[in-house]
Amino acid sequence: MSSGETVKVGMLGMGTVGGGVAAILQRNGSLLARKTGIKLELQRVLVRDPSRRRAVDLPPQIYTTDPEMVVKDPSIDVVVELMGGIEPARTLISAALKENKFVVTANKDLMARHGQELLQLAYCYGEDIFFEASVGGGIPLIRPLKHCLVANRIERMVGIINGTTNYILTRMSLDDMDFQEALSKAQELGFAEADPSNDLEGRDAAYKLTILAGLAFDCSLNPDDLFTQGISGVTRADIHYARELGYTIKLLAVAEQMPTGLALGVHPALVPLTHPLATVYDEFNAIFIKGDLIGETMFYGRGAGALPTASAVVADIIDAAYSLQSGVKDRPSPGKSNNRKITLLPLSALSSRFYVRLQARDLPGVFGAVATAFGEEEVSLDMIIQKRKTNGMAEIVLVTHDVNEERFYRSLKRVARLPAIEPEPGVFRVLG
Ligand code: NAP
Ligand code: HSE
Repeated sequence: MSSGETVKVGMLGMGTVGGGVAAILQRNGSLLARKTGIKLELQRVLVRDPSRRRAVDLPPQIYTTDPEMVVKDPSIDVVVELMGGIEPARTLISAALKENKFVVTANKDLMARHGQELLQLAYCYGEDIFFEASVGGGIPLIRPLKHCLVANRIERMVGIINGTTNYILTRMSLDDMDFQEALSKAQELGFAEADPSNDLEGRDAAYKLTILAGLAFDCSLNPDDLFTQGISGVTRADIHYARELGYTIKLLAVAEQMPTGLALGVHPALVPLTHPLATVYDEFNAIFIKGDLIGETMFYGRGAGALPTASAVVADIIDAAYSLQSGVKDRPSPGKSNNRKITLLPLSALSSRFYVRLQARDLPGVFGAVATAFGEEEVSLDMIIQKRKTNGMAEIVLVTHDVNEERFYRSLKRVARLPAIEPEPGVFRVLG
């Protein structure tokens, strides 16, 4: 530590989250010092454009466009990476570790793709990387998995771990807001990634699930191996039909330990209105974690946004400072268990109920033919409705009972072959 109990912080990036960190240090700096005995001092901040107006006023000389002024400055104790993306973040974090600095990051893309390599590097240099803010914004999830639940064999995790898509789906559902308008609002509020397609196509949630599942099931995962489906296929009609049937639509991340391996993925799903996840609105996230000892636990809170996310970042900086003080690191050596390779199962390993929206020509017997085609593959239907549309078309919407995925798709193929049925049905899983 630089002098007394002052910890000098160098920040890479000062956008939504970086601005939140600076705001917290201004607003709650003395509270933090009283509670922890540690004074955090922002020493240097890397940005692309130092002339840009920021949410928080800092002395102009604090800004730099030269990353070495942060990662190589010997007076800086902790480097906080809040730029996002893989490069140059990966190179700069590596450089900071090699300069014997602790690192804090909120970067899920990087931790999901290169977490093991960076943690290994940190270990080699006697340093550590803290990444609580990478999943669930301000919700404590990484620490509970690493510490509080460590005695448990984790059996299942299911939840909402992307704030932007949850915000969009909430506004579309509760205010009938148009998709584009809801996305613009989420961007304005600072929830969305620099490339919002990461949120919309489920990649952001897949990165987060990779990190969580890696810790929960002590294994090493590649986000590219996860089944990932975003919300771009969810229409306003699906949201309305879902509500009529007693459901809402959410983007879910699911991981389940099966006897033969781990099934995991990200996909939109119909959630019963009576399920606690149905009332997780806006940028809030919630995740159920089931352990063999504790049973079910639920973590809930703001999963995105400047102050909630920065709250987790600042807590990590304090943890890094405690480690600096005590010389004790936060985690066991890597390579003991979290490099464990496991068998990944496709989501089809889990049987599910399915929602289907079909476009059909409004002819006599079509409704019956659809039900029969499903029945012939022994797919049992729980609910089925038909809505007349314009131009002689109708929409048939149904929910199946629990069915093996292979059988379900076989029956859907049979339905698709019916002459009155248009291609490309809307299909989503239904949370049981
Ligand atoms: P952001 O608003 O886009 O801010 C990024 C910051 O990094 C900006 O200050 C930018 O500088 C700087 N930057 C980016 N590339 C740079 C480069 N090559 N050289 C120098 N500076 C560079 O991003 P954010 O929303 O704060 O997100 C930061 C990280 O937190 C990401 O990993 C994100 O996934 C994660 N995260 C975000 C949230 C959230 O709610 N936003 C929540 C949890 C985690 P300029 O300002 O000069 O352009
Ligand atoms: N874009 C992310 C989200 C930010 O919407 O959840 C929080 O990780």
